[in-house]
Amino acid sequence: MDSGLENIIAAETILSDVDGKAGRLIIRGWPVEELAATKRYEEDLHLLWTGFFDALGDPDSVQRSLGEARVSAFGKVGSLPRDAGVVAALRTGWSLLEDDESLDTALSLAAGAAVFTAAAVRIARGQAPVAPDPSLSQSADMLKMMRGEPATEAEARALDAYLCTVSDHGLNASTFAARVIASTRAGLGSAAIGGLSALKGPLHGGAPGPVLDMLDEIGAPEAAEGWIDAALGRGERLMGFGHRVYRVRDPRADALKTAVAKLPGTSGRIGFAEYIETVVLERLAQKYPDRPLETNVEFYTAVLLEALEIPRDAFTAIFATGRVLGWIAHASEQIAEKRLVRPKSIYRGPVPEAA
Ligand code: ACO
Repeated sequence: MDSGLENIIAAETILSDVDGKAGRLIIRGWPVEELAATKRYEEDLHLLWTGFFDALGDPDSVQRSLGEARVSAFGKVGSLPRDAGVVAALRTGWSLLEDDESLDTALSLAAGAAVFTAAAVRIARGQAPVAPDPSLSQSADMLKMMRGEPATEAEARALDAYLCTVSDHGLNASTFAARVIASTRAGLGSAAIGGLSALKGPLHGGAPGPVLDMLDEIGAPEAAEGWIDAALGRGERLMGFGHRVYRVRDPRADALKTAVAKLPGTSGRIGFAEYIETVVLERLAQKYPDRPLETNVEFYTAVLLEALEIPRDAFTAIFATGRVLGWIAHASEQIAEKRLVRPKSIYRGPVPEAA
């Protein structure tokens, strides 16, 4: 019995490889740093979905299809819950789409992530949702729908870098959940909603909002040591640090730090974050000398999404906009396996009295 399943191999995949000892992530042949620096969302989608959908086309036709799918998803925005939060709105939006295993459904899930997330952000602020512009890239349009005004090219590229960086990551909890659901042939929509439900937990994709809360609470470099010692003394986990697989620095942290540094006006915040990171790593090493705990993807995710003026309550849904590409690819890979996922358990409950 292995309660966290960390030593269990439950899938063969062509999608990504996480080497936790070397600190290396490969996504379909691409080192994550190169993927983040060079690919757009549409190209990453094309990379991950190639071989799973016959009619996929090239990255340019993907961009056109995604644009059309955003327009179509916008027709459902009126049915989103008004005050249940951004993740709940995305979950609801996805549940209003088709739930089969087709390319159209896959595209509508990726497009819907941008549309429903942006609309939910505006609804939460009491603003009217902004309609998509199908001629834009998904990242540029997502920022425009959220803010109501166009993003700069550098901002759209930074969001591309983030979405590509988080688009796949081996058999993490949400991807495993998506694969289990896909194995029942419930549909890609169900797999994505299941993935999102697993992602929202603070031990998985819910950490970057709390990272910013931590930076704000610390406030100034001179308060860092006292704040961090007190939090660790209370037995709290510091968000953005530690990982189930990585024993060295998560390579996605530096891919994102590089992306955020390209945005103007971010050097002060990055400098503060770097200082906090140094103190946290020092204190974690003192507290857990035998267990290497390093910076994970969520720490610089927080700094990047903040620089893009994305509100904290939308961070997990933005993460899902990237990761849904991986969930759909993994779900399709699992469907092709034609094998229901069904592990066993050991019964430790009461035994019935002999009749
Ligand atoms: N802050 C303080 N202590 C920590 C942290 C942390 N960030 N991470 C681990 N520890 C402690 C654990 O409490 C444990 O201590 P204990 O033995 O006294 O209970 C010890 O270090 C060893 O823990 P692990 O076995 O390494 O933890 P696990 O593999 O179960 O958890 C996890 C990994 C959930 C990511 C954990 O490091 C954590 O909670 N981090 C903070 C939340 C976070 O950043 N989540 C995002 C992860 S990245 C992603 O999913 C996209």
